[in-house]
Amino acid sequence: MKAISIGLLGLGTVGSGVVKIIENHQDKLIHQVGCPVVVKKILVQDLHKSRPVEVDVKTLTSNPDDILFDKDIDVVIEVMGGVHDTKDFLITALRQGKHVVTANKDLMALHGSELLTVATEHGCDLFYEASVAGGIPVLRGLVDGLASDRITQMMGIVNGTTNYILTKMSDEGRSYEEVLKEAQALGFAEADPTADVEGLDAARKMTILATLGFSMHIDLEDVKVSGISNITEEDLSYGKQLGYTMKLIGYAGREGEKVEVSVAPTFLSNNHPLASVQNEYNAVYVYGEAVGETMFYGPGAGSMPTATAVVSDLVGVIKNLRLGVNGRSAVTPQYPKRLKDNEE
Ligand code: NDP
Ligand code: HSE
Repeated sequence: MKAISIGLLGLGTVGSGVVKIIENHQDKLIHQVGCPVVVKKILVQDLHKSRPVEVDVKTLTSNPDDILFDKDIDVVIEVMGGVHDTKDFLITALRQGKHVVTANKDLMALHGSELLTVATEHGCDLFYEASVAGGIPVLRGLVDGLASDRITQMMGIVNGTTNYILTKMSDEGRSYEEVLKEAQALGFAEADPTADVEGLDAARKMTILATLGFSMHIDLEDVKVSGISNITEEDLSYGKQLGYTMKLIGYAGREGEKVEVSVAPTFLSNNHPLASVQNEYNAVYVYGEAVGETMFYGPGAGSMPTATAVVSDLVGVIKNLRLGVNGRSAVTPQYPKRLKDNEE
């Protein structure tokens, strides 16, 4: 059975996990999709850097065209981060008829609508489960699992780095700077951790969640954001004495056509379920008119949890490829059309 060839953009924290899962779970993948899965080429910046995973150096390239224009590559997995060049790469890949899996929330929050339109125009899948809450299948949960319900509110911890920092500062009395460095070393933080600590990463994820959950286009710039960089150990211990735990909370609420999305450090009573979400773990509370309250919980950052979501998306893409249009088993979570999209 002909193997499916993957082009991987990035071999850092998440990319290394993707390579490990594809290698170590090959039997499970073959069982799922009926053919071997091979990583044919990997785009990196530094061809000589040592890597947390062993790869054949011949697979490495610093030229994106080696992947984007390779006719044998069926699926491009983007785990390099960044917005402008990355968007161009993915548009090129889709125009070449390649299916795309991405973990990039910056890109999906800012340009998801455009990328999904290009994917549809070229008959390609574009999956992005890993862009929100790492290893938790929350996007599929929202779009498929709660497809019949009208969602009114979502509230969650959607950034692992800041939850890790707040947990360690509060439980171990350690300094913000020290714990941030640890979160970076563990691979939870973004290349520039400003996006994590200032709440922007959470805002991007809440934008994606609200867009899918409310089936309405949400602009990132309308999200009210504040982060945790000014929070002190004293703030946390003062709250603790009063029975409260601080968390960086993302909120999205809808009343009729009015939507409010925000991210802010918030004191929660210790008996609130989100108060016990520790370290890099994430949780998203969803309120639906019919279902009532439901919660998604799990590891929100890190190499293997995130790679699990990426490779599971890959399985969906390959199943679709093998079954053809009439037997599609996994459907790309689509953004609602904007008036602007219709005008274009
Ligand atoms: P890393 O910084 O660890 O890895 C990035 C990789 O991409 C590196 O291998 C780097 O090459 C390569 N790269 C970056 N820019 C370029 C470029 N211009 N040209 C060629 N190669 C490039 O990032 P992560 O793995 O942590 O994150 C990747 C993506 O996944 C990001 O979008 C992030 O937001 C998202 N994500 C991350 C999670 C996490 O827990 N870390 C969780 C969920 C999503 P080199 O190694 O040579 O420098
Ligand atoms: N930097 C992100 C976080 C990675 O800490 O949550 C997962 O998206």
